[in-house]
Amino acid sequence: GAPLKALAARDHLLLGTAVNMDALAEDSTYRKITAREFNSVTAENVMKWETLQPERGVYDFTQGDALVKFARSNGQAVRGHTLLWHNQLPGWLTSGVADGSISKDELRQILREHITTVAKHYKGKLYQWDVVNEVFEEDGSYRQSLWYQQLGPSYIADAFRWARQADPHAKLYVNDYNVEGVNAKSTAYYNLIKELRAQGVKVDGFGIQGHLSTFYGFPGDIPANLQRFADIGVESSFTEVDVRGVMPMDETKLARQAEYFGRMLDACLDQKKCTSFTIWGFADQYSWVPGVFEGEGSANIYDENYAVKPSYWAVREELAGG
Ligand code: G3I
Repeated sequence: GAPLKALAARDHLLLGTAVNMDALAEDSTYRKITAREFNSVTAENVMKWETLQPERGVYDFTQGDALVKFARSNGQAVRGHTLLWHNQLPGWLTSGVADGSISKDELRQILREHITTVAKHYKGKLYQWDVVNEVFEEDGSYRQSLWYQQLGPSYIADAFRWARQADPHAKLYVNDYNVEGVNAKSTAYYNLIKELRAQGVKVDGFGIQGHLSTFYGFPGDIPANLQRFADIGVESSFTEVDVRGVMPMDETKLARQAEYFGRMLDACLDQKKCTSFTIWGFADQYSWVPGVFEGEGSANIYDENYAVKPSYWAVREELAGG
């Protein structure tokens, strides 16, 4: 049948995958499916700080550029991830902050320079940027990250200002996990976006990662959550969707996983302001899940041998029918 991206295009949806650059280089089946099925790609790792600025002031865009080139040759849009995060920071930065050799003022300058350099480098090439990633705790308080501890909450407004200045046309996003439904964390983003707006700082989009587990229930109030952002003029995207399970998987878990994929996609398709839906890697053998959640895995839509799973069919049916 038609590839998923052809069905998505009819729905005016960008259907994405995260891309593992090692797999893209070494695995021709991976490369083929990435090109054939998706009309959007996100760098799983290579647009993060540790890759882009491995030494202070020394930038390495090699792999990020390779992804942009791959996308261009396959007619795909590119989603940027991420201008700021507390993970995958280069050692020179974390140790410099820890030992006091990087002052607060200097850190703010470093942040400004990184965001400006990176967003300028990719200016006009990316349709969305995650400007800040995972800045709140589950209870809606600010995450005590290096950024927050050194700079206080104003680093977020700064990050958006600098990103906007460097790339005025990309849609600028906040992005997090466990914010699918209406809860303390998603409400913190809703309030933050309104506060920033009052300060003259515009946030274009709300990024819902969508890392779910078949072990837990499905967040039922996703439509209401998307709607409240839409009502204040903010678009949304599902940015890192996968649904993991406790291994070994069985038919019941696979069916539940398929249902969760389908329901997230359905919520996006039903919301005019939901613009993209990205799966966090389509192939189980490259998934981040087993490395982080012991005994869990099988989170994607293709299994380790590239056989499609019930979750693939759920995505396909939603795209075709929704
Ligand atoms: O690059 C090194 C390599 O040199 C080394 O030999 C190897 C040995 O462990 O590690 C490699 O680094 C790994 C890196 O991915 C690149 O493959 C890290 O160990 C590994 O921890 C890292 O994991 C990534 C993770 O973010 C880091 O927190 C995952 O691939 C990536 O999928 C995951 O993505 C995040 C999103 O950015 C934000 N939301 C949550 C999501 C899942 O954790």
